Amino acid sequence: MSDGDAAGAHDVVLIGGGAAGLRAAIAIAETDPTLDVAVVSKVYPMRSHTVSAEGGAAGFIAADDTWEEHVYDTVSGSDWLGDQDAIEAFVAEAPRELLQLEHWGCPWSRTDDGHIAVRAFGGMKKMRTWFAADKTGFHMLHALFQTSLKYQRVTRYDEWFVTRLLVDDGRVHGCVAIELATGAIRTIRAKAVVLATGGCGKVFPFTTNANINTGDGMALAYRAGAPLKDMEFVQYHPTGLPFTGILITEATRAEGGWLLNKDGYRYLQDYDLGTPSPTPVMRSMELGPRDRLSQAFVHEVEKGRTADSPWGPVVYLDLRHLGEELIESRLPFVRELCLKYERIDPVTELVPVRPVVHYMMGGVHTDIDGATPLAGLFAAGETACVSINGANRLGSNSLPECLVFGARAGRAAASYAASAGPVGDSPAVVAQVADEVARVRRLMAAMPDGLPEDSVPVIRERMQTTMEDAAGIYRTGEAMRKGADALRELQERVGAVGIQDTSRSFNTELVAALEVANMLDVAECMLASGINREESRGAHQRTDFPDRDDERFLVHQLTVREGDGPPRVEQLPVSITRWPPGERVYGR
Ligand code: FUM
Repeated sequence: MSDGDAAGAHDVVLIGGGAAGLRAAIAIAETDPTLDVAVVSKVYPMRSHTVSAEGGAAGFIAADDTWEEHVYDTVSGSDWLGDQDAIEAFVAEAPRELLQLEHWGCPWSRTDDGHIAVRAFGGMKKMRTWFAADKTGFHMLHALFQTSLKYQRVTRYDEWFVTRLLVDDGRVHGCVAIELATGAIRTIRAKAVVLATGGCGKVFPFTTNANINTGDGMALAYRAGAPLKDMEFVQYHPTGLPFTGILITEATRAEGGWLLNKDGYRYLQDYDLGTPSPTPVMRSMELGPRDRLSQAFVHEVEKGRTADSPWGPVVYLDLRHLGEELIESRLPFVRELCLKYERIDPVTELVPVRPVVHYMMGGVHTDIDGATPLAGLFAAGETACVSINGANRLGSNSLPECLVFGARAGRAAASYAASAGPVGDSPAVVAQVADEVARVRRLMAAMPDGLPEDSVPVIRERMQTTMEDAAGIYRTGEAMRKGADALRELQERVGAVGIQDTSRSFNTELVAALEVANMLDVAECMLASGINREESRGAHQRTDFPDRDDERFLVHQLTVREGDGPPRVEQLPVSITRWPPGERVYGR
């Protein structure tokens, strides 16, 4: 075989082996067992980023909870930018999906009398977050992975990195991928493709995201002509470990943990988030929404009330009053992480924390069934923007989002593939494959001496610092425009980037070079969208436009590729069914 040859042909190809991708694979296999499905994943599926999810998955189940309340919390949490038809469907289907996962083997934590245990989570009025101690993602992924193994018509391409979608005649024809073990570049043909590659936290220097979260699916879609949506909304999680960015789950605060400034003061009481109480109060103080808590941290820095650490200012998470027994039973992973990465025992010591980039509210523009405007292309999970999260996602809504919309995208892709005509080697597809092979081989041929300006680490670091300066918790038009200029310059340089490693097997430098190109596209979309949105809403806070402006900006923003230039921004109405825009009230 030579470069560009076909490795296989399938009805549907899923790109990504995390919760959304595997849920989609199972949905396709169950919808139409005659369909031939492939799961292509950059890493072995059990190493997908879902594995690191800690706190839990929301779904109303408690006797005092209702569909309306979960919908309303999500709508107001999104600062009214979430599409209400999508949120209604999501909330209705989430409990069913979570229960289904139990039947597939997910060991949900239970109450003493055997019911599903639920915990509080930020911005939610009721306890509705299902959990498996604080290793929820691990157990969910395990249940999905082992279930996917029983379907004979699901083929896996583990450790294959997709670098391009093939498109002809207005529809998708499959993809080009590198088999990482051999370095071979192959095509994988498919009538339908589902993108489920997770988020893009690595665009920023401090993130809870794994190294693999480089926005690959978003960049693939964008380059293939499918727009990205609401890319300006980047979520900071209030409690990451300062050096590594490792997540310290919100469940610590749901279990009663406090956030203290350097004076030992529960500072959130100064930010319209309620008054201190010894036990957690829903939607109050430490259980407020993530955007507000991260913004409060910035104000504490400005007031000089944070502590210094080698990695910048920090506040403290105090779990000492919870006691060893509770920490060991409900938060064992948190204790392990603190001990291993900070040499701190949360049973007896304060844990230094800071906001870190955690989640991308924006993503590939899809409808409620995961369909993008490009025929045959679907997306689900963090890669997609359906949108249920709007301007700010509530913690624990993302795992069920992967299940609900993974299943929906899978069913929609199955039905599309069942009736779509064959895909083949049209001249356009052949030319695209040749072009992609040339792009990858050119990268490997350009071998720089020493560590030049245009090496992958230099470009990646410049991109990350640019994004932190331009698109942090607070932004201005001027800083974003400056950042956009810097990214443009990096875009020109990334084309000439050279790598030193010419080996074919597991060439991580080659992968990093391709990933940085993906991240630059995604980063440009974030800033183009952010510059255009002249208001403050959810996670997009502009000091030059401090108010929410529903008249001009109660709209989604699409970023559309325009040749090799910066993206064009278009607007799209938000779906409002029953809840007109209102005030986001917490702590009262
Ligand atoms: O804090 C956490 O456990 C994160 C949960 C989430 O992002 O949904």
